[in-house]
Amino acid sequence: MPEFPCVVYLNGKWLLHQEARISVFDRGFMLGDGTYEVISFYEGRFFHFEDHIGRLQYSLSQIDLAFDTSVLEKLCEEAVNRNALTDSDGAVYIQITRGIAPRQHAFPASVRPTCLIYAIPVALGDFEKRQVTVKTVPDSRWSRSDIKGISLLPNVLVSEQARKEGVFEYIFVRKGMITEGTHTNIFFVKNNILLTHPADHHVLSGIGRRVVLDLCKELDISFEEKPVSLSELENVQEAFLTGTTTQITSVIKMDDIIFNEGKTGTITRKLQQGLIGLTRPGYFV
Ligand SMILES: Cc1ncc(COP(=O)(O)O)c(C=O)c1O
Repeated sequence: MPEFPCVVYLNGKWLLHQEARISVFDRGFMLGDGTYEVISFYEGRFFHFEDHIGRLQYSLSQIDLAFDTSVLEKLCEEAVNRNALTDSDGAVYIQITRGIAPRQHAFPASVRPTCLIYAIPVALGDFEKRQVTVKTVPDSRWSRSDIKGISLLPNVLVSEQARKEGVFEYIFVRKGMITEGTHTNIFFVKNNILLTHPADHHVLSGIGRRVVLDLCKELDISFEEKPVSLSELENVQEAFLTGTTTQITSVIKMDDIIFNEGKTGTITRKLQQGLIGLTRPGYFV
C-alpha cells in the first residue's frame, strides 16, 4: 500500500502532508483540470528525468496550461532529500492544475497554476520475479489518452474491478484492438517480433515503453509499433507490461489465454535484464 509522504511541496512551501491545503475552487479538484507525472528513482537517482519532464511539457501544451517546468528538477531533488529517500528506491509525483477560480468550464482570465510535488518510497527491486494475470475490458476513456490528465475515473473504476477480482491489471480494448492498461503499456511477442500499440492519441507514450524500444535496438530484438487484436492473442508467445513503477512485468495469462505455458519468455527476460542494467549500475560487475 502506498504511504503518505512526510513533507509535500505546495505552491512555494514545504509542508507536512497533514497541513497541505488546496482551495475547494482549485480547478483540479472541481474539474479535473490538470496534469501529472510520476518519476521513479533508484537508490536516490532519477530514471529518465528529462523524458518525464518532456512528457509533462507535452501534456501542459496540449491542455494550454502555461507553467515553467525549469523549476522542477531542484524541487524534485528536494522532495527526495526532505523525505530522507536519497539512498532509497521510490517515486516523485508532480501535479500541476490550472489553479483557483470561480467554477466555470472555460479557462479563467488570469490564474496561477497549483503545483504539488512529493516523494514516496516504492519497492522497485525483484520486478523480474513477478508473473501476473490481466483481463481485458472495453476502452471507455476519452480519445486523448496521450495526455497525462488527472481525470482518471475510467482508470479508477477498472482498477477497483481488478483489485476485487485479484488480477494485476485490466487492459483496455478499443474496436477489437488492445491499447494499454490502466497504468501500464502492454507488449506482446508474436513470431519473435515485439509488438506494442503505436504512441498515438489512444495510449500514453510511456517512458517505460520508450526505454523498452531503445533496449530492443541495443539488444537486436525486432519490434513493430502496431496494435494487436484480441483475435491474435491465441498466437502470442509472450506478453509484458511496462510502467514507471511496474517496470517490465511479465504477463502469463490474459483473460483465458496462457502465454508460454505460464512462464516468463526469453525476450521478456532479456529486456528485464537490460532494464536492471540501466537502473542498477554495477549490478553485473
Ligand atoms: C494509462 C497509462 N499508460 C501507460 C503508463 C506507463 O507510462 P510510464 O512508463 O511513463 O510510467 C501509465 C503510467 O502511469 C499510464 O497511466
